[in-house]
Amino acid sequence: MRIDPSFNLGKFLNTTIKSYSEDINSRILILDDDSIVKSDSNDKFTDKILRHVEITNALKGISHSSIHNFEELGYVLYIAVPIKYEGKVIGATFISSSLNDIYDTVGEITDKLRIISMASIFLIAILSFAFANFLSKPIEEFTRAIKKMAKGKLGCKVEIKTNDEFKHLANAFNIMSTKLNEVDIQRKDFVANVSHELRTPLSSIKLLSESLLHQQEEDVNIYREFLKDIDSEIDRLNKIIDDLLVLVDLDKEKLSLNYQTTYINFLLEKIISRLLPLAEKKHIDLKVDFKEKLQIKVDKDKIQQAIINIVHNAIKYTPEGGVVEVSLYSEGEYIVVKVKDNGVGIPKESLPHIFDRFYRVDKARARSTGGTGLGLSIAYQIITLHQGTIEVESEVNKGSTFYIKIPYSSGLGS
Ligand SMILES: Nc1ncnc2c1ncn2[C@@H]1O[C@H](COP(=O)(O)OP(=O)(O)O)[C@@H](O)[C@H]1O
Ligand SMILES: [Mg+2]
Repeated sequence: MRIDPSFNLGKFLNTTIKSYSEDINSRILILDDDSIVKSDSNDKFTDKILRHVEITNALKGISHSSIHNFEELGYVLYIAVPIKYEGKVIGATFISSSLNDIYDTVGEITDKLRIISMASIFLIAILSFAFANFLSKPIEEFTRAIKKMAKGKLGCKVEIKTNDEFKHLANAFNIMSTKLNEVDIQRKDFVANVSHELRTPLSSIKLLSESLLHQQEEDVNIYREFLKDIDSEIDRLNKIIDDLLVLVDLDKEKLSLNYQTTYINFLLEKIISRLLPLAEKKHIDLKVDFKEKLQIKVDKDKIQQAIINIVHNAIKYTPEGGVVEVSLYSEGEYIVVKVKDNGVGIPKESLPHIFDRFYRVDKARARSTGGTGLGLSIAYQIITLHQGTIEVESEVNKGSTFYIKIPYSSGLGS
């Protein structure tokens, strides 16, 4: 191989190193085994001795790199690699590269991360606050309503605008408070009614006894007559209290009906024979129509009480010479006891109220008929407890028909 006489190895090395140095943006030095710089991409150190620990190690055959932090240059990476020829170290390549750009970039990234972290913390704080507010608002609303209810405002409502579980809870809460309020109103009405109903006979007794006390005459007959009136008022008081106790018992025994398999036709016969004298006294034709023998599981005594109340009414509110007809039949899943009379009837506007406690269409006449206004309420309660219904059709001066319907399923499973 012929070598161009103009070829200079030192010059060639220098140009190559310079070009690499530019490529990798670092300073490159080639040293011989005496640590003398043979070539420097910066020219500065050429022919000078350079003794860095990295170079010393490289000349011992060990590549070495480390990072230095210089006051004026900043972070610099030193790398020294041995140059070997036939297994022997003949020199070293030394590269020094500024890490400032990398450190700057890392610094920038760290700054950005710090800002992002701060922003995240801030955002999370705002979100947490908003969410806590979102959660606590409805709870505060519930607490406010519950406190009000505890103070006696039972119909208190909760208003939730969101459309979530709280809304469902608020709906349930409002249904409960409305119901509680209704029950409370009913309770107050009931107490007021009971007081009123008890006061009426008591006032009569008081009036009668006072008249007797101020009586100048000593006519035994007058005393007897007054005492008879007092006696009947006491009977009335007893009747009201008995009926009230039945109602209270029904409330208590809601879940403990004494179900027995009962032939309703036999039960009706018993009721008819009990009420027949009353009907005969008013010359009322008490007719029966039981074609079928129908058996069902009911609380026998309570059902008897309910039917008696309705048949008794039919006789009571039918003028002399009228007709009352009791029939029994099966209709789908129900046993029906129909009680039909051709008596005074019930005005349309009174029909929705006749099952209310103490309600009587004709209050004035009620005293002469001896009603307490609780009979239908008791009957209704008993039939409802058996999952049954009572329906009424009535026309004034033509008569009324009551349908007591009890499902065959009543009492099953008990
Ligand atoms: N068969 C009926 N015919 C006409 N009115 C009736 C009949 N049954 C019930 N009523 C009316 O319904 C009211 C309530 O009945 P009820 O609760 O049994 O009370 P009462 O003690 O007055 O009989 C009665 O006062 C009466 O005005
Ligand atoms: Mg009655």
